Amino acid sequence: ATAIAASLVIGYFLGSIPFGFLLTRMAGLGDVRKIGSGNIGATNVLRTGNKPLAAATLLLDALKATAAAVLAQHLFGSELAGLLGGFAAFIGHLFPVWLGFKGGKGVATYVGMLLGVEPIMVAVFAVVWIGIAWLSRYSSLSALVATLVIPVALWILGRQDAALVTSAMTVITYWKHKTNIERLIARTESKIGQKG
Ligand code: G3P
Repeated sequence: ATAIAASLVIGYFLGSIPFGFLLTRMAGLGDVRKIGSGNIGATNVLRTGNKPLAAATLLLDALKATAAAVLAQHLFGSELAGLLGGFAAFIGHLFPVWLGFKGGKGVATYVGMLLGVEPIMVAVFAVVWIGIAWLSRYSSLSALVATLVIPVALWILGRQDAALVTSAMTVITYWKHKTNIERLIARTESKIGQKG
């Protein structure tokens, strides 16, 4: 029980590092929360026009969850610990204490967590995300479809623990994309790279 609690705490604090917010501010581009959708994620960092910064945000937000998952798995020697460590990083990203608990939408951390515990699922996620993005140009829609596919794919492969944890993450991801879903329905969602 202490092992699980420690994975959760370490995961949360790793996940709570708001790379999009920090990198944008360090680059002298101001507060990313005042740009575009107001989100601190890579999609919104891209709306500053700085592609390398958006790529760095995506990578670092993903890798913090990978680190949390791998660390928990190694420390406590079970896949479940890894899943919970990654889940905690996801929660840390969504609700970072440093930003008044108002964080990101969890897509990069979701992928990063998968890289730590179920790496083959990163390929599944990437294929779906890129496919939908290529067709629609919506980052949010791509993430919504990809996060729906992952728990189903894990379930089919018999990875019940991972399917359960990612199902919870998918529900939370949908909830965090509430305004995106409203904009998608109203056809006012901005496309990838659009300033809107
Ligand atoms: O990864 C987040 C993306 O799905 C939506 O971001 O900034 O368009 O709300 P944003």
